[in-house]
Amino acid sequence: MTAVITRVVPIERIATARLVLRRPTLADLDAVYAYASDPAITTYMGWARHESPETTRAFLQMRDEEWEQRGTGTYVAELGDTGVVIGSTGLHVYDDAPAATGYIIARPWWGHGYATEALRAMLALARSRGMPRVEASCHPENTGSRRVLEKCGMRHERTLEDHLVFPNLSGELQDLLVFAIEL
Ligand SMILES: CC(C)(COP(=O)(O)OP(=O)(O)OC[C@H]1O[C@@H](n2cnc3c(N)ncnc32)[C@H](O)[C@@H]1OP(=O)(O)O)[C@@H](O)C(=O)NCCC(=O)NCCS
Repeated sequence: MTAVITRVVPIERIATARLVLRRPTLADLDAVYAYASDPAITTYMGWARHESPETTRAFLQMRDEEWEQRGTGTYVAELGDTGVVIGSTGLHVYDDAPAATGYIIARPWWGHGYATEALRAMLALARSRGMPRVEASCHPENTGSRRVLEKCGMRHERTLEDHLVFPNLSGELQDLLVFAIEL
């Protein structure tokens, strides 16, 4: 019998009510650097804030490789009506772990429900792709992020004690909350 090989077509652009979520390009460098270098935004991120646009360039190249290899990855979030990039989200897949998501929104646009809208879109994407489960993690003091996860139906499943250094916070290991949803 002839084997049938199917390849899932990457979904590089998703329109929600107010956002366009799309695969990043190097043209997004300035917008991504603006929030990825902001100490007030990156406090609770698991990666070190970007010290120069060159870090952002390397980050975008890495994300592009992920898209090439996995057919999914980071999405920048554009305001649908202006095209302004206000942050990013993503759906990341691995060989040996459940799919993972996350989000970051630039400060001027906090408190408008954009992270919630972006995360809901990522969960809908995961569901449409037949992924059984998506995980996300956050620092225990990142109250806004916890709220976003809960609003989207993700549940706090476990706490990993003294698990991760948050490089923009301190050099010490911190607890990590793991949230998950079964789709
Ligand atoms: C966390 C973050 C993504 C939220 O983005 P946002 O677009 O403002 O989120 P939303 O508007 O969709 O929802 C935020 C919710 O958290 C609540 N919230 C925000 N800050 C809060 C705080 N300090 N204490 C309690 N609730 C808080 C809001 O009231 C809102 O809940 P509500 O709709 O019930 O009122 C944004 O602040 C951010 O990018 N922070 C820096 C990056 C980051 O921490 N990313 C997550 C890493 S795990």
